[in-house]
Amino acid sequence: MKSFYIETFGCQMNVHDSEKVIGTLERRGLEQVTTPDAADLVLFNTCSIRDKAEQKVFQRLSENKRSKGKIFGVLGCVAQQEGERIFEKAPHVNLVVGSASYPKLGELLVQIEQGERRVTGLSLDSDDTFETPMTRRDNPHRAYITIIEGCDKSCAYCVVPYTRGHERSRTSESVLAEARELASKGYSEIQLLGQNVNSYRDPSPMGWNFAQLLEAVGRVEGIRRVRFTTSHPRDFGKDIVDAMDRTETLCNMVHLPVQSGSTNVLRAMQRQYTREQYMERIEWLKASKRDIALSTDIIVGFPGETEEDFAQTLRLLDEVEYDSIFSFKYSVRPNTPAQGMGDQIPDEEKGRRLIVLQERQRAIQIRRNTALVGTEQEVLVEGFNSTTGQWIGRTSQNRVLNFTVGQQKARDEMIGRYLPVRVTRAGPNSLAGECAIAV
Ligand code: SAH
Ligand code: SF4
Ligand code: F3S
Repeated sequence: MKSFYIETFGCQMNVHDSEKVIGTLERRGLEQVTTPDAADLVLFNTCSIRDKAEQKVFQRLSENKRSKGKIFGVLGCVAQQEGERIFEKAPHVNLVVGSASYPKLGELLVQIEQGERRVTGLSLDSDDTFETPMTRRDNPHRAYITIIEGCDKSCAYCVVPYTRGHERSRTSESVLAEARELASKGYSEIQLLGQNVNSYRDPSPMGWNFAQLLEAVGRVEGIRRVRFTTSHPRDFGKDIVDAMDRTETLCNMVHLPVQSGSTNVLRAMQRQYTREQYMERIEWLKASKRDIALSTDIIVGFPGETEEDFAQTLRLLDEVEYDSIFSFKYSVRPNTPAQGMGDQIPDEEKGRRLIVLQERQRAIQIRRNTALVGTEQEVLVEGFNSTTGQWIGRTSQNRVLNFTVGQQKARDEMIGRYLPVRVTRAGPNSLAGECAIAV
């Protein structure tokens, strides 16, 4: 094996896992290539959160059929969920590894090199988190750090507890060491990751909770921005807001998935909070002296969701006024408690509710973005759009702000810089502006 190709589906945890897998493979002397055709080892790092995501990998596997000597591997959540059944569905697959077994990836590859046809890593009882001496990060300015893996909640609709295993936190010391190392390499933005990042519990004698770790990462010299995702409402304490108030580097944004605005639906989903408890957390965030942007995830059409339940979700959007939302039609997932629930909502009705919800939110976003016209925002420059001639920046609130500068500039003079930008126009999903200083 000399070369590998990897394709990643799913959430940021998967994206970062792939960065670590790439680092592990490069350390073993393999070279990353950009097409499956050119690779000896073809890997798909998969997601099974909804049925559509799961289907994608089987489609990709059927498009990339067996060829002599080529090794195919399925990693991630579909690997863990389907296990050896993947060999039946796609017989050319040689390697099936769930994320809890990545610390063993090296050993598994040796087995393949020794000629084994089918190798699996599917154990979920690992106490390890996946740390590698080398991580191949894609972006030279913004870096992910996983602080907690797995999930100990049991939301009725969700596969993650089965695909990622139980919760394992890293020590605060190793997280801080990584943050310092990143800062010394020139990274200025850090994103702390976890399925429920705020359920973090330092396993070392320090015993820090999430708010303590967050503040400490925010104080690492050289780090200008810290984000974190995803926060679970049940474990979202006021101490997190207090840490944000005290620590300027912590970005003005919180992603707090509500899933539904109806306490009845939340109970059926086993979310472990009521609408009122969720709104209490929103009030803490709104009372902050920072201007914290809010985003959320919503599922429409969970079994038994009535018109009134759905109306409560719409009212919640109006009350909170999120800056952005991710919304999904409920998708039945294998082995989850909700799989066999009665009163499944027809797909057409789920589709209708999704459109109503998204239209309602679109109006809110236009209003909220328009309110920023005339203000000055600091952006981290992330790229250049040659079609529009605009630089692409991101504000502390995680808004995309496309902007122009007085003079033509080369990419490496601009990308990674922090610049003040005056907002001149607003759309539902982004802002446009002009750089407020001569660069
Ligand atoms: N741990 C996070 C969510 C991670 S999964 C939390 O608890 O908030 C990301 C999102 O996918 C969820 O917030 C949910 O909105 C959505 N999702 C999960 N399972 C789903 C399913 N079966 N159907 C539709 N959406 C789902
Ligand atoms: Fe899934 Fe719930 Fe765990 Fe989030 S908290 S990953 S929705 S089981
Ligand atoms: Fe998907 Fe697994 Fe992430 S199911 S959303 S890749 S944890």
